[in-house]
Amino acid sequence: MTTNPSLRKRPNGHLLFAQQFFRHPRQIGSIIPSSGFLERRVIAAADIAAARCVVELGPGTGGMTQAMLGALAPDARLLSIEINPLFHEQVSRIEDERLIAHLGSATDVRAIVTSHGLAAPDAIVSGIPFSTMSAAIGSQILAEVAAVLADTGRFVAYQFNPRVGALAQPVLGTPQVAMELRNIPPMRVFRWAKSQA
Ligand SMILES: C[S@@+](CC[C@H](N)C(=O)[O-])C[C@H]1O[C@@H](n2cnc3c(N)ncnc32)[C@H](O)[C@@H]1O
Repeated sequence: MTTNPSLRKRPNGHLLFAQQFFRHPRQIGSIIPSSGFLERRVIAAADIAAARCVVELGPGTGGMTQAMLGALAPDARLLSIEINPLFHEQVSRIEDERLIAHLGSATDVRAIVTSHGLAAPDAIVSGIPFSTMSAAIGSQILAEVAAVLADTGRFVAYQFNPRVGALAQPVLGTPQVAMELRNIPPMRVFRWAKSQA
């Protein structure tokens, strides 16, 4: 029996995700990966299809990563930055030449983009839980995001908790916010356009 290559590439990460949530609940922030509904809403908000360079913060087991690769142009690049080594290993198994999987922290996003020789990102997509990290770390990540984003770029963060809106206000201004109920838990999708900050 042959295996469908697209299924072989997609990591079956629900068990790993739940295990890692129980070990690092504050860092992971949710017990199961994002739904397809949330993936599609985030991809539309970030206009992934028009981007040349995309950065993902906190890919987890790579569901959102795979969905973004499905929408990304053939000659564009996607840099995924994950702090958890087991999740990073899972994302590294995705076979796609456009993807760079990087083990590291979103606090260093600017240096990581530079270290891979990438242009300023047109879109940054974040699933990291801003509500459970210290305000200092959250503000540091958001300042880095604002600094590295292209002048016409957009930043999209999907979050259960609205805290990211207040944390980002000084550097990115007021976001547009939409709600995706077809996810566990329901998620707010925050979108900032740098040119409007
Ligand atoms: C809610 S999960 C999102 C997973 C995945 N993107 C999804 O949609 O299912 C949050 C992810 O952010 C990662 N993370 C948390 N803090 C981080 C940081 N400072 N830098 C990079 N990744 C981080 C966690 O390890 C976890 O994989």
